[in-house]
Amino acid sequence: MSDQLRPRASLRTAVVWEVLKDALDHRVKVTGRDALDVLDTGGGTGNFAVPVARLGHRVTVVDPSPNALFALERRAAEAGVADRVRGVQGDIHGLFEVVEREGYDAVLCHGVLEYVDDPAEGVRNAVAALRPSGALSLLAAGLGGAVLARALAGHFTEARQALGDPAGRWGEGDPVPRRYTAEQLTELVSGADVEVGAVHGVRVFADLVPGVLVDTEPGAMEALLKLESAAAELPAFHSVATQLHVLGTKRA
Ligand SMILES: C[S@@+](CC[C@H](N)C(=O)[O-])C[C@H]1O[C@@H](n2cnc3c(N)ncnc32)[C@H](O)[C@@H]1O
Repeated sequence: MSDQLRPRASLRTAVVWEVLKDALDHRVKVTGRDALDVLDTGGGTGNFAVPVARLGHRVTVVDPSPNALFALERRAAEAGVADRVRGVQGDIHGLFEVVEREGYDAVLCHGVLEYVDDPAEGVRNAVAALRPSGALSLLAAGLGGAVLARALAGHFTEARQALGDPAGRWGEGDPVPRRYTAEQLTELVSGADVEVGAVHGVRVFADLVPGVLVDTEPGAMEALLKLESAAAELPAFHSVATQLHVLGTKRA
């Protein structure tokens, strides 16, 4: 089953997917080419790469993990898009050892900036891989969402720790090395020759709602998806989103 058809998975990806799909459709119109060249840096097992390839685009996934690339290959084959998905072992810091500069119509960098050594360099490389006017899709962990989640779970000291920590971490056991506010993320992007088009809050409610409410109430999943979509664009909700998505365009 594709991720877009799995209800739980679609809660995690729906908002980003809609924004990304619109951006790709726009690039198709502007370039006049049906099949775009898309780079997914840190694309992992293909949560986005495979659905993008299903749209007819050619996707290159650069990821340091051989296991993730192996799973990507299998997933692409199962989805019937193996000929349009290329997995390459590499790192966002050494991106141009494995892909060409200015070779892509769109670059995805989803869930990666939290983990890399130098996020500013990571963004600069992602942008340098874009053709002029290409689309940058950036997704990273949001600070406020983590604070809220820790507090609602009763971990008040950890919530306060995350709030005051420069990297937004709630303690030693926090598996995420770095989180962002919407301002920090847009600053990173703007500093890299990119015009910010839109910022969306992702998973504003989904991670806070008890699963049983979503899984057992008829129509609840669809209603929650619509709520997430309506709240995503409102700046008031950016500060409590689990993730933040920035869509930008490389200056021509
Ligand atoms: C949280 S997963 C996100 C996977 C995928 N982008 C998604 O949205 O489902 C983070 C991915 O980043 C990769 N990664 C970690 N460090 C990286 C680096 N320095 N350069 C590129 N990818 C990296 C990991 O191997 C992993 O596949």
